[in-house]
Amino acid sequence: MRQPRILMCPPDHYGIEYEINPWMSRSRGASQERAHSQWNALCQTLRQLGVVIELLPPQPGVPDLVFTANAGLIYQQRFFTSRFRHEVRAREEPYFDAWFGAHGFTVAHLPEGMYFEGAGDALFCGSALFAGYRIRSDVQGHQWLGQQLTIQVLPLELVNPHYYHLDTCFCPLAPGEAIYHPQAFDAYGCKVLEANIPTLIPVNEAEAARFGCNAVVVGKQVVVNTGCPQLMKDLERRGYQPIAVELDEFLKAGGSAKCLTIRLDGEEAALWR
Ligand code: ARG
Repeated sequence: MRQPRILMCPPDHYGIEYEINPWMSRSRGASQERAHSQWNALCQTLRQLGVVIELLPPQPGVPDLVFTANAGLIYQQRFFTSRFRHEVRAREEPYFDAWFGAHGFTVAHLPEGMYFEGAGDALFCGSALFAGYRIRSDVQGHQWLGQQLTIQVLPLELVNPHYYHLDTCFCPLAPGEAIYHPQAFDAYGCKVLEANIPTLIPVNEAEAARFGCNAVVVGKQVVVNTGCPQLMKDLERRGYQPIAVELDEFLKAGGSAKCLTIRLDGEEAALWR
């Protein structure tokens, strides 16, 4: 069996140095020591699940580089680099380009002026790409990707600033199965999800705020932040094995398990893998 591969970036330069989402507060900051131990625990947990962890070298001056989910979109051996909405994160783009270019991927860029924040806003469930827009990514960027890859793209408007990336409120588990936080979408978005994904597991307000939807799926194992007991029960009932890892230091930047990872060989729910 092929081994799952995930790219992560050690939090050597992680910190809260600006505020670009409602979770971030410079005055509250983050602890380097705790960030390291939590990140190590996530890394260890994934290795125990049989995942090969690849490391992106940490870089000073780009504190959010740890959130490799935002590197870009991977489709087979093609890599489409993100175009970040905020300049503070756009500085990360060259590092992602360099890593993917050096590791066997064909690197492509979206046309200028189209914002796109990678796997943070674009997740495959079955053959379709579910794509969050408005707060960070633009719908035009998603449409352009759909044309390039000749895949179906289902745009979902994100209406709640706390759930500014799609991966903060939606997580495909397998083709036809996903978890989501309904209040992060408008009525139309919920309809699109319901019409295209037969099994949808809702995550309640309190556990969505613990970033329960920001989970890493490896086969039947689902790694999530601590503090999501109801979600863990619901996952068990569906035949999954949830594993809790405390990631609070990253919640302070508006991220959790999924944001800290990008699956190089395709997400479990992506039919193309
Ligand atoms: N502080 C980062 C930002 O606002 C957090 C990114 C979290 N990543 C994610 N895939 N949701 O951009």
